[in-house]
Amino acid sequence: MPPDDSNNTAAKLRQQLAGQLAAGGWLRTAEWRAAVEHVPRHEFLPRFYTEALSPGVTTWTPISADLVGGDEWLTIAYSDQTLVTQFDEHPIDWSEPRPVSNASPTSSSTLPSLVVRMLEDLDVHDDMTVLELGTGTGYSTGLLCERLDDKNVTSVETDHDVADRARIALAECGYYPRLVTGDGQLGHPGPAPYDRTIATYGVRHIPSAWVEQTRPGGLIVTTLRGWMRSLGLVRLTTEGNGKAEGPFIAADPSFMIARQQSAPASMGMIPAPDQGETRETPFGRELLSMPDSGFVAQLAMPNARYFTMPDESGVEHTYVLDAENDSYAVLTERGPGEWSVRQGGPSALWDNLEQSLHLWHAADSPPATGFGVTVTPREQRVWLGSSDGPSWSLPG
Ligand SMILES: C[S@@+](CC[C@H](N)C(=O)[O-])C[C@H]1O[C@@H](n2cnc3c(N)ncnc32)[C@H](O)[C@@H]1O
Repeated sequence: MPPDDSNNTAAKLRQQLAGQLAAGGWLRTAEWRAAVEHVPRHEFLPRFYTEALSPGVTTWTPISADLVGGDEWLTIAYSDQTLVTQFDEHPIDWSEPRPVSNASPTSSSTLPSLVVRMLEDLDVHDDMTVLELGTGTGYSTGLLCERLDDKNVTSVETDHDVADRARIALAECGYYPRLVTGDGQLGHPGPAPYDRTIATYGVRHIPSAWVEQTRPGGLIVTTLRGWMRSLGLVRLTTEGNGKAEGPFIAADPSFMIARQQSAPASMGMIPAPDQGETRETPFGRELLSMPDSGFVAQLAMPNARYFTMPDESGVEHTYVLDAENDSYAVLTERGPGEWSVRQGGPSALWDNLEQSLHLWHAADSPPATGFGVTVTPREQRVWLGSSDGPSWSLPG
């Protein structure tokens, strides 16, 4: 496609995307709408992978103008989907692009509806300064530069290769924010305090640097997540002296976890069949994967992961294993809807979960938005209902 045609097509697709995001309620203000209409997402995404719909195993398909044609590439670049630009922390070899499976995305341009809802939730005003963690392709950094002066935007990316590509793409679009290659968990103290802090990767707890580097009365928007699942999107107001507090504002948007907080590669040791104490339990394994009870499970067992596997006689067991202290709970369905649990190790994982579920049921089983977070220099707690309600510590 000649460059002029491609620019016209891209401009139309941006308008369409902005209209779609506004209709969906994600894009709520004229300022952010103008940013979406201006920032050329395709310039940040010359090549990427999209998730293919294949049963069983997750597969990604390579997309570029050369592979699928200029029109199709642009259309996908302006669709409301996450477009993956790196797997397993390695640069993609684009000399012979092939479908990818059995890999974990480690960098991407997040789906625009989530990016803009987080930017709207950040409640940015003219002249504010923003710290962004997780530059990725640079698209969301570009939106921030379009909304604010470049000098007010600082963005940190941990991966050198990703950071270099974002720097080039931003410069090609005429944006020159302060770009830092390093661990975003440390923020970037130079220009602090910031008015606003936003992270486009998930964290197991709020890094103290973000709280310290955001001015009192400022806002932090990020997702909290665990090794089993994402907890959700939080918006915290900083109070000074290392304190911040605020609610979960959405359940379940899922971001890749901070590289420094990835789960250990090994799931841990499977307990022998004669280990542990067995008893009946009213709760089966499905509660681990259901949205709201799964949230409670993540809080109650912050270092655990689970998988289901048959034994030699074909009976399926669900193994819940704690990566930090080797505690375990093994769930087995004894008859339709009748479950037993075998537990061992220093913390009784299933007892903890049952106690948490009782508290949650007693409060009418709210979704994630019924919870909030309090951060102090000493501890971080997720609470139910109000800050003096039942609470769970986030892992340090
Ligand atoms: C979902 S992508 C970012 C999306 C991006 N904002 C965009 O619009 O393209 C998450 C990024 O966070 C980066 N990341 C992960 N852990 C990080 C850390 N500790 N510090 C800085 N960046 C990190 C990853 O390398 C990845 O590029």
